[in-house]
Amino acid sequence: MLTLRFLTAGESHGPQLTAIIEGVPAQLPLLAEDIDRELARRQGGYGRGRRMQIEKDRVQIVSGVRHGMTTGAPITFVVENKDWKNWTKIMGAEPISEEEAEKMRRKLTRPRPGHADLNGAIKYGHRDMRNVLERSSARETTVRVACGALAKVILKACGIEVAGHVREIGGIRAEETNYATIQELQKRSEESPVRCLDEDASKKMMAAIDKAKQDGDSIGGIVEVVVAGVPIGLGSHVHYDRKLDGKIAGAVMSINAFKGVEIGIGFEAARLPGSQVHDEITWSEEEGYKRKTNRLGGFEGGMTNGMPIVVKGVMKPIPTLYKPLQSVDIDSKEPFAAGVERSDSCAVPAASVVCENVVAWEVANALLDTFGSDQLPLIQAAVERHHAASKEF
Ligand SMILES: Cc1cc2nc3c(=O)[nH]c(=O)nc-3n(C[C@H](O)[C@H](O)[C@H](O)COP(=O)(O)O)c2cc1C
Repeated sequence: MLTLRFLTAGESHGPQLTAIIEGVPAQLPLLAEDIDRELARRQGGYGRGRRMQIEKDRVQIVSGVRHGMTTGAPITFVVENKDWKNWTKIMGAEPISEEEAEKMRRKLTRPRPGHADLNGAIKYGHRDMRNVLERSSARETTVRVACGALAKVILKACGIEVAGHVREIGGIRAEETNYATIQELQKRSEESPVRCLDEDASKKMMAAIDKAKQDGDSIGGIVEVVVAGVPIGLGSHVHYDRKLDGKIAGAVMSINAFKGVEIGIGFEAARLPGSQVHDEITWSEEEGYKRKTNRLGGFEGGMTNGMPIVVKGVMKPIPTLYKPLQSVDIDSKEPFAAGVERSDSCAVPAASVVCENVVAWEVANALLDTFGSDQLPLIQAAVERHHAASKEF
């Protein structure tokens, strides 16, 4: 049985980010441009800071793919940090003297409230919190998106599409969130600078981002990911750690700054009677089993029910503020205004792309878990057979 897994490595201002992925079937057509497209989407979005203008991310595929086709061997993705040339001394692996370290003045002793700085410093014993920041930075999500992009290629080859959009930024909600097909959702969210389907709300969101920037503040929001074309029965009810909704929730929560997850109507289910929460079941010869509604977001019993997967994630406002909050210098123990690193004022549109990709990864993993084989064509055939069998079941 094949299961996908990956490791990422690399610092925000180090030479590169790397991901090694194991468990990808052979015979999957894969091009660098499939990955680069997602990397570019992650870098876009209204409200990003200067770093995203420096970095134009491109993947190098350095193993596991030959002549545009996966071989079944581990795949390695490398994304260079263009900014590295300005950080070679500060971030180099070679030892440096105390004097040099002092001169470079990039030592961080003022933890930012809301970031990993203080906890990471205490946990790993770092007097220079740059050792924490460099890895806790959301720059790491670049290669997580690269892995998700690969997952999207696997899913697409099996008739499964992923899309995402922004539902809320800084308290401004999209009212118009309807779409007829997942392709329409993909297209319309791509057209909005904030990835929001509601044009009026998009403008207000951009104004809110501008205001946050002016005020030296930051704002968060809510993103939604939809996965369509999913076979019935990915995940499993038989054991807690095989429930796909649980895995997706864990993946979404693992995105930097994400503080909540909902599947389908999520928290609203607490306030409604069962008759307005559960989705009635229908059957027809053409479509097989369907639900009249999709309030449970495509899941029952930790398994997909064939309806689109719908997941929402809540992103808190970015912790690095130009208008700093109070903190304590870990050397002097004096109160200080928290150190300002280069930062975005709102990364919710970018985070919606990250969210799409981490969800894609979990779904692809579950797909291979159920239909796993060493070769893509055999997986595709198994998925087809399964669709036909579930229709008639
Ligand atoms: C796409 C994206 C971009 C981010 N950009 C920044 C940033 O520029 N500055 C910042 O302080 N935090 C940024 N964050 C959030 C931090 O990485 C995150 O808050 C930090 O790692 C602490 O983790 P936690 O918020 O999950 O507790 C970003 C998050 C995402 C998903």
